[in-house]
Amino acid sequence: MDKDGPNHAILVVDDDATNLRMLQEILKPLYKVYAAPSGDRALAFLENRVPDMILLDVEMPVMSGYELIKRLKDDARFSSIPVLFLTAQEGRDKEEQALHLGAVDYILKPITTGVVRARVNLHIELEDYRKRLETLVSEKTEKLRLTQDSILDILANVTAWRDSGTGGHIDRTTAYTRLVVEGLAQKNDPEYDIPPQYREHIIKSSKLHDIGKVAVSDNILLKPGRLTPEEFAEIKKHTTFGAQMIDDAIRDLGDDSSFLHVAREIVISHHEWWNGGGYPNGLAGSDIPISGRVMAVSDIYDSLTSERPYKGPMTHEEAMDIIYKETGVHFDPNMIKLLEDTFPLFKEIAAALN
Ligand SMILES: [Fe+2]
Repeated sequence: MDKDGPNHAILVVDDDATNLRMLQEILKPLYKVYAAPSGDRALAFLENRVPDMILLDVEMPVMSGYELIKRLKDDARFSSIPVLFLTAQEGRDKEEQALHLGAVDYILKPITTGVVRARVNLHIELEDYRKRLETLVSEKTEKLRLTQDSILDILANVTAWRDSGTGGHIDRTTAYTRLVVEGLAQKNDPEYDIPPQYREHIIKSSKLHDIGKVAVSDNILLKPGRLTPEEFAEIKKHTTFGAQMIDDAIRDLGDDSSFLHVAREIVISHHEWWNGGGYPNGLAGSDIPISGRVMAVSDIYDSLTSERPYKGPMTHEEAMDIIYKETGVHFDPNMIKLLEDTFPLFKEIAAALN
């Protein structure tokens, strides 16, 4: 309790008016105490206010304490309120039943001031501690997420700066990738069942799709003219170089590496073609991971609509003509069909981020 008075609210539920009054008297100096003479009245009270704890009499007419706690535990709004049973019935089975139903503790009647205050105080403190821990864990998790995101951005910038000198390609392809996975998720097509976590992993790791380019020599990566077949063969290795870089991290992280597995999928498969004519593994059709098929669409659309040393940018319509022409050859035809109403949104991203 602080100087402004009691902070925690306790609901006492007991059909016996004397007991109810007694419990109020015992707890009033320390907590805000509310009283309900039946299970129904307790449920009505809960509609307006969620207390920090409930003291619940087991033996009540109409709705017993057991019945009430079952209702509370089945309702997400109330299931985490700690419940302490008040019971006059002695015997292990009654205590066990109460605890089994989710009560945190029980107090045997006849009650005494010292026991009631000590038990209530203990569980209020435990509950406060649990809540503080929960907040702390979610704050730390959020901080960790932000740190991971910034490391990802740094890595993405390393690739981008070395390759084209700007992060524009990465920002745009990430935005297209987001549109594609969200567009596919809306269609609820069983072939493209992309659970939310896989979706997030695809969006985030799309930033790393060309990470392997840092291992390709400058002479080839930055060559202004046409590449010889040998040089192109070197460029193609950015997929396997990237996968090798991620493999090391996967080995270190073990089971916690689901994000990196998706990143690896994208890195190694974003140049595979639907007809098997891509690289590095010549995968075809649905053997190409969904993430790689998604990345292929974002990556190629951006290449077509961006300015390069050797070409001007295509319009959205010209780029879409090529993508439709390459559907079934380079791109997954079913995926392209499902994305018909997503593609117009690409145009807006291209205009905003180019
Ligand atoms: Fe690439």
